[in-house]
Amino acid sequence: MARDQLKKTASWAALKYVRSGTIVGVGTGSTTAHFIDALASIKHQIAGAVSSSESSSVRLKSYGIPVFDLNDVHLLPLYVDGADEINDQLQMIKGGGAALTREKIIAAVADCFVCVADTSKRVEKLGRAPLPIEVIPMARSYISRQLIRLGGWPKHRQNVITDNGNVILDVYHLDMSDPIQLEKAIKALTGVVTVGLFAERGADVALIGTTHGVSILQKIFLQNTQD
Ligand code: 5RP
Repeated sequence: MARDQLKKTASWAALKYVRSGTIVGVGTGSTTAHFIDALASIKHQIAGAVSSSESSSVRLKSYGIPVFDLNDVHLLPLYVDGADEINDQLQMIKGGGAALTREKIIAAVADCFVCVADTSKRVEKLGRAPLPIEVIPMARSYISRQLIRLGGWPKHRQNVITDNGNVILDVYHLDMSDPIQLEKAIKALTGVVTVGLFAERGADVALIGTTHGVSILQKIFLQNTQD
């Protein structure tokens, strides 16, 4: 089955997580575009959406779905977005579409993050894809040098300015054996706006489109039992 069909199947499966009357958080990318199409089919049952990019806002509005400013939204039960990679702990690399900062903000607000992806995005260990980092333009060279110190090979993404007016560095060959630590270390560099590692706040559910249907991965919460 074509990859795009797998993205579509996963995205439509996310509809069952949408609660009627609520505002839905919507991500960015070709998989999320399918989710917006799916959302349009139930648009009269939702209050509207908050969006992680101008491109997703345009698509939502083209269906007549109201797009809210996140500052006016106090409850966000659900955020649906794609990923460039996702592991079994539901940690992700995101930002292939350069929307990582707004994606991370909406993910932080949402109660439940549902990641929709085709099976090619599922990995045992993160790091096959480059790690996108949004940086303040004047800090690009400084941050590149710091990333080299961390073992990475940064590459300036040409001709891309984010919705926030910043630039993207795609970093190859970073050691991702401890994604949470790496996320913290990169976040701490002055001039970094956002790192596309979603490890501290990963997804809560992943819907993975496969040729045999949609696989559902869920976070397992280990209970601490004390006598
Ligand atoms: C955009 C993203 C996307 O979710 C990610 O790049 C996946 O894209 P696609 O669904 O087109 O494969 O993080 O910043």
